[in-house]
Amino acid sequence: MSTDSLALDQSVQDKSLQVELETEIERRRNFAIISHPDAGKTTLTEKLLLYGGAIHEAGAVKARRAQRKATSDWMEMEQQRGISITSTVLQFAYKDCHINLLDTPGHQDFSEDTYRTLAAADNAVMLVDAAKGLEPQTRKLFEVCKLRSLPIFTFINKLDRPGREPLELLDEIEQELGLQTYAVNWPIGMGDRFRGVFDRREQKIHLFERSAHGSREATVTTVDLGDPRIEDLLEQELYYQLKEDLEVIEGVGPELDLAQVHRGKMTPVFFGSAMTNFGVEPFLNAFLDYALKPGPHHSTVGEVEPTYPEFSGFVFKLQANMDPRHRDRIAFVRVCSGKFEKDMTVNHARSGKTVRLSRPQKLFAQERESIEAAYPGDVIGLNNPGAFAIGDTIYLGQKLEYEGIPCFSPELFAYLKNPNPSKFKQFHKGVSELREEGAVQIMFSADEAKRDPILAAVGQLQFEVVQFRLQNEYNVETQIELLPYSVARWVTGGWDALQKVGRLFNTVTVKDSWGRPVLLFRNEWNCQQVEGEHPELKLSTIAPVV
Ligand code: G4P
Repeated sequence: MSTDSLALDQSVQDKSLQVELETEIERRRNFAIISHPDAGKTTLTEKLLLYGGAIHEAGAVKARRAQRKATSDWMEMEQQRGISITSTVLQFAYKDCHINLLDTPGHQDFSEDTYRTLAAADNAVMLVDAAKGLEPQTRKLFEVCKLRSLPIFTFINKLDRPGREPLELLDEIEQELGLQTYAVNWPIGMGDRFRGVFDRREQKIHLFERSAHGSREATVTTVDLGDPRIEDLLEQELYYQLKEDLEVIEGVGPELDLAQVHRGKMTPVFFGSAMTNFGVEPFLNAFLDYALKPGPHHSTVGEVEPTYPEFSGFVFKLQANMDPRHRDRIAFVRVCSGKFEKDMTVNHARSGKTVRLSRPQKLFAQERESIEAAYPGDVIGLNNPGAFAIGDTIYLGQKLEYEGIPCFSPELFAYLKNPNPSKFKQFHKGVSELREEGAVQIMFSADEAKRDPILAAVGQLQFEVVQFRLQNEYNVETQIELLPYSVARWVTGGWDALQKVGRLFNTVTVKDSWGRPVLLFRNEWNCQQVEGEHPELKLSTIAPVV
C-alpha cells in the first residue's frame, strides 16, 4: 500500500470519527439533581427512568436497593444507616437522546462528593418542595452551580399536596437566588384538586389521571386552551383561575431567553408531582430541548471542544469498595472530548505516565456493566490502580490538563486522635490515603504543639466513613474530638496578610494540606465581622486549585 493511500485511509477514518462524535454529542444530555432531602429526588429519578423505559414499574430502584445483599462492611454501613453513600450515574435513553443523570448522594449527611459531582455536570435540575420552597441544602448546591454558571432547570414538586402559591415560589427563587424565572408550564389546581398543567410551549392543557400510586406513566388528555370540551373536563373555577394566572405571568414575566438559561441567569420552571407522575413527561421533553449539550472545557491549552478527536477527560470522584466482591477503587471520569474505547492506553497528565484503561464500567444504580465506548458528556468508572487523584486529567494527543476541582468550604471540624502509638504508621498512611481520595479534607493546627490532624468535612457522615475505614482497612481505632467551629475561609492574602493583622478574636488559624492558611469561625457572624474589618485578608469559601 502506498503512503498516499494510507493517508487517505486515515482521513476517511478521521471523517467517520468526526461524524460519529457529532452525532453522539448532539444526542447527549447530562445533568445532576440538586435538592434538599425529602424534596422527592429519589421519586423523580425513578419517574424519569420510567419514562425513559429503563425500568417498567416505579419502585424498582428502591426495591433493588433493599434486595441488595450487604456482604461487605462498607455496604453494611450503608445498609445500617439506610442511606446511599455511593453515588452512581444513571444512563437512559429517551426519544433519540442519551441521558446521563449524575446521582448525588441524597442524604442530609452529604459530603464533598455532592459538590464534586456538579463539576462533571452540564446542567442541574433544582428540585423544590412546593410547600417548603427553597431549603438550606438546595441553596448550598445552587451556590456551587452558580460558580460554574450551570444552566438550572427548576422542578417544583408535590403539587398534589397543599403548597405555597406558584407566584410566591417564583418570587422566592428570583429574590433569593437572583435567578430570573420563566414558567414553562403552569399548574392547574393544587393539592386534591391538582388536575394538570398548562404547557406554554404548545399552548395546551394537559389533564392527568392518577395511576395506582403513580407506578405507571400518567394518562393524559390534551386540549387547547379554548377547546369547548374543557367545560366537561375541568371545574370552571380552576379554568378561570388558570386564565387569570396566565394573564399575570404573560403580562409581567420575561420571555424565555435560552442564552440566559445557558449562562445560568434564567431558570425554566416546571410544576408537577413526581409521585403521581403529573408533569414529569412535559418536563423531560422541554428539558431535552433546552438543556446544554456537552460543550467545551477549559484546559491548559485553551478551550477543548468535545468534537476534538483525541480522547480526554478528568477524574471527579473516587469511590472505594463499591463492590463487595472486589475491594477496589473506582475513579469516575467525565469524558470531555473524543471517543473512549475499552482497553485504551492514555496519558496521565499529573504523573506523565501511561495507563491502560481496562475494565471500564458504566453504572446503572448499583449494578455494573462493562462498556465498549463512551462519548463526551458520559461518565465512566475505571478500576483505579491507585494512580488517580481527584481532578486528574487523562488524555491522548497533545498534552493538556483540565482545571482542577476546588476544595469546598467545610462546616464541621474535629481532631482525629490515634490513642495507640504503635499504630502511628498505619494511622498516617490511612489518613493520607483517605485525604488523597477526597473522603475528607485534612487540616492542621497552626500551633506546632498540636499534632493531631483536623478532619474538615461538609457532612457528619464523612467523619464516620473515615473512622470506619481506618478501622476496617488500616486496622486503626481512632477517636474524634469535635471542634466548635462551623465556618472556614481560606486566607488568599496569605500568611503575610495574617501576620500584619495580628491577633483575631473568636477565630482559630489552621493550615490546609498544602500549608495554606485557613481561618475557622464559630459562626457566620464572626466571619462577616473579620471580613468587614480586614478586607486585605481576602477570605474565600473555596480553596485555590492546586
Ligand atoms: P429524597 O430522595 O429527595 O429524599 O425524597 P424521596 O423521593 O425519598 O421522597 C420523600 C418523600 O416525599 C417520600 O415519602 C415520597 O413518597 C414523597 N414524595 C415525593 N414526591 C412526591 C410528590 O410529588 N407528592 C407527594 N405527595 N409526595 C411525594 P415517604 O413517606 O418518606 O416515603 P414513601 O413511603 O412514599 O416511600
